[in-house]
Amino acid sequence: MDLFSPFPQRTLTLRNRIVVSPMCQYSAQDGVPNHWHLVHLGSRAVGGAAAVIAEATAVSPEGRISPQDVGLWNDAQLQAWRPITQFIREHGAVPGVQLSHAGRKASAHRPWEGGGALPAGQGDWTTVAPSAIPFDEGWHVPEALDAIGLRKVVSDFRAAAQRALAAGFQLIELHAAHGYLLHQFLSPLSNRRGDDYGGSFENRTRLLREIVAAVREVWPQELPLWVRLSATDWSEGGWDVEQSVRLARELKPLGVDLIDTSSGGLVAHAKIALGPGYQVPFAARIREEAQIATGAVGLITTPAQAAAVVAEGKADVVLIARESLRDPYFPRRAAQELGAAVPPPVQYQRAW
Ligand SMILES: Cc1cc2nc3c(=O)[nH]c(=O)nc-3n(C[C@H](O)[C@H](O)[C@H](O)COP(=O)(O)O)c2cc1C
Repeated sequence: MDLFSPFPQRTLTLRNRIVVSPMCQYSAQDGVPNHWHLVHLGSRAVGGAAAVIAEATAVSPEGRISPQDVGLWNDAQLQAWRPITQFIREHGAVPGVQLSHAGRKASAHRPWEGGGALPAGQGDWTTVAPSAIPFDEGWHVPEALDAIGLRKVVSDFRAAAQRALAAGFQLIELHAAHGYLLHQFLSPLSNRRGDDYGGSFENRTRLLREIVAAVREVWPQELPLWVRLSATDWSEGGWDVEQSVRLARELKPLGVDLIDTSSGGLVAHAKIALGPGYQVPFAARIREEAQIATGAVGLITTPAQAAAVVAEGKADVVLIARESLRDPYFPRRAAQELGAAVPPPVQYQRAW
C-alpha cells in the first residue's frame, strides 16, 4: 500500500492515508467550538490530510476533561460545528469527530494551567467511573455509575452521534483509550465492579459494545465508525494487547471499521517504552490477528516513516498529532518528498 493511495471507508474515499489525530484545544466556552477550531482544523484540511478528526468532544457536560472542552450535547454546539465540517469537506478532507467521556479524569485544569483535578469550589464537578477509585493522588474520587447512570452514558453517546451527523461530520471515532471512561471500564485496574459490567472480559467490554451498537443505530451504514483503543496499560494486571485483539474481533461485526491503536493513560505511573513509532507494532498485531483495518499513531514524524508503516502493511492509515501542529502542511510536504501529487488549493497554486 502506498501512503498516497486512496483508502475506501464504506461509501467514502479518503484521498490518502494521512489523518490528523484528535487533539484537545481546551479553548471552547460552554462546549461550543469557535473561530480557533475552524482555523485549526481547517488549516489541516488545506494541508492535505485525508481526514481531520476533531478533538475529544464530550457527550455530556460531566464528560469533559476540562471546562474548556468542546461538546456535542446540545444544539448550540451542533450549529457551531456546521461551518467547520463544511470547510473541511470543501477542502477535500473527511471531517471526523472523536466522541468522548472523561470519566474519573474529568473536572481537570487545562494543561497550561497546570493540569490535575480542579479544586473544590473552582468550577469542579462530580466525576463518574466504573468504580470509586481515583486516577491518582490528588484526583477526584469518582462515583461508581449505577444502572441509570450507565443507561445515560449509552444514550448520551447515541444522541451525540445523531448531532454529529446533523453537524456534517462523516466519521465518528469513539474514544476508548487514554484512561477515559470507556477505557476505565475495559481495564481491571480501574474496573472492580461485581455486576454485568465488571469482572470477566465480556463484562468489562460490555459498555463499549453497547455504545458501538447504540451509535450504529443512528450513524448511517454509509459512514465509517472508528474506535481508539489503548492497546496496553503498560502496567501489570491491566488491559493488554491480547485483550485488544480479542475486543477488535468482536467490534468488527458490530460495525466498527478501524481500530486507531494508541496506548497508556489509565494509570499515572505506567512505564512506557517511548520511541519512534513505538505503538506501530500494536496496530500491526491487531490488524493481522483481528483482520480489521488499523491506524498507527505515536511519534510518527517523518514522511519516510509514515510511508513505511503503510507500505509494510502495519496499518492502513497513520495518524499524525504533534507533527501536524508543527506543520499543518505535513501531508503536502510528505507528498513532495515522496514524489506524489497533492494539488494545492487554486488560491495557492503560484507557490507550487
Ligand atoms: C495537544 C494534544 C492534544 C491531544 N488530545 C487528544 C484527544 O483529544 N484525543 C486523543 O485521543 N488523543 C489526544 N492526544 C494524543 C494524540 O492524538 C496522539 O495520540 C499522541 O500525541 C501521539 O501522537 P504524536 O506523536 O503524533 O503526537 C493529544 C495530543 C496532543 C499533543
